[in-house]
Amino acid sequence: MEPIYLDHAATTPIRSEVRAAILPFLDARFGNPSSTHRWGREARAALEEARERVAGALGAQRREIVFTSGGTEADNLAVLGRWRAARHAGGAAVACSAIEHKAVLGALHAAGDEGAEALLLAVDADGVLDVGALDETLAARPAVVSIMWANNEVGTLQPVEAVAARCRAAGVCFHSDAVQAFGKVPVRVDRVPVDLLSISAHKIGGPKGIGALYVRAGTELEPLVHGGTQEGGLRPGTESVALAAGMGVAAELAAREQREEARRLAALRDRLEGALLERIADAVVNGGGAPRLPQILNLSIPGVERDALLMSLDMEGVAISTGSACQSGVVEASHVLLAMGRALPGETAVRFSLGRTTTEREIEQVIEIVPRVVERVRELAG
Ligand SMILES: Cc1ncc(COP(=O)(O)O)c(C=O)c1O
Repeated sequence: MEPIYLDHAATTPIRSEVRAAILPFLDARFGNPSSTHRWGREARAALEEARERVAGALGAQRREIVFTSGGTEADNLAVLGRWRAARHAGGAAVACSAIEHKAVLGALHAAGDEGAEALLLAVDADGVLDVGALDETLAARPAVVSIMWANNEVGTLQPVEAVAARCRAAGVCFHSDAVQAFGKVPVRVDRVPVDLLSISAHKIGGPKGIGALYVRAGTELEPLVHGGTQEGGLRPGTESVALAAGMGVAAELAAREQREEARRLAALRDRLEGALLERIADAVVNGGGAPRLPQILNLSIPGVERDALLMSLDMEGVAISTGSACQSGVVEASHVLLAMGRALPGETAVRFSLGRTTTEREIEQVIEIVPRVVERVRELAG
C-alpha cells in the first residue's frame, strides 16, 4: 500500500503548476527586482505579477500585499508591527484569542514584554470565540485585535465577520490569521473589513518560506527588520522572486478551486468522521458542535498513548499528527484543547487533515486501518 498523507494542515505537496512557475527564476531569470537593467526589470515585473495574483485571490489591491517569509512572519508583522506603530499614539493593549497559532501568541507576548497589556480572549467548549466578550476588550482600545479565521488544530471557524464589524465600529485595528482558512472557505478582504490578514503559501500547494500580509491601505505598521525600501519598507531585503511567483500561482488556483474543493473535502472528512466514530469506542470530535473547515478532523481517543498511536499509524503507512507541527516532539497539552476544556487526562487528540491529493480510496483505507491500530494500542496499554 502506498503511504497515506493526512497531514495537509502541517504542509502540502507543491503543485506542478507552482513548480513550473518557480523554476525559471532559479535559472536564467535570476535578476534582482531593485536593479534597473533588463534582468532587474524582468524580475520586478514577475514580482508584481505575483503580487497581483495574490491580491486578486483575496479581493485586495496589489499595493496592499506584503510578501513575508511565511505565515509566522506575517503574524508577527501584524501584531508586533501594529503594536509598535500604535503605542506612540497611546495604544496600551494587544488582544487575541486563546487558541491562536503560536506565531500570534508569541508576538502578543513580545508586545507584552515591550509594555503592552496582553489580553487573551476565551473560547467556548467547541473552540469558538464569544463575540460578546469582545466589547470589554475593545473598551481598552487595543492597538490590534487578532482573531484567526479558522483554527489549525480543531478547524473551528471563528466569527470573523462579527469581530471585524465590532472592531471597525470601535475604530480598532483587526488582524486575522487566515493561514488554514484561505483556499478552503471564502476569504475576501473586500467582503470582510479586516485591516490585516496573514496567509502562507505552503498550506495551499505553494513553496515553504513565503507568505503574505494583507495591509489595508492606511493601516500604520512598523517594520520588524530594517534596511531598504522593498515591500513598501515593511519587509526590507531582496525579494524572493521565485517563491513569490510560486505563491502567486498557488493563491490564484486555491481561490479559483475553493468552492469545489471544499465540497469534495467536506464529503471525505464527513465520511471519515462518521466511520471512525462508529468504529472507535468513546472517540469524541473536538470542535464538532461548531462550523469547521472542511479538511480538518480532530478526534480525542481515550486509552491510547500519543506516541504509540502515531508511530503505529506511521508504520501502517498513515501520516497524521496531534495538532500543530510546532508542537510535534514536545509533549505538552495543546493550548487549544486546554482553552476548550478538552485536554483531558488519559485521552489523546489526533488531527486528520485532508488536502488536494486526498482520494476516496485513501479515506476508505484509513477507515480500515485506524480502528484496528487503536484497538491494538489500547490492548498493549491495558
Ligand atoms: C494558523 C496558522 N498560522 C500560522 C502558521 C505559520 O505559518 P508558516 O509555517 O508559513 O510560518 C501556521 C502553520 O502551521 C498556521 O497553521
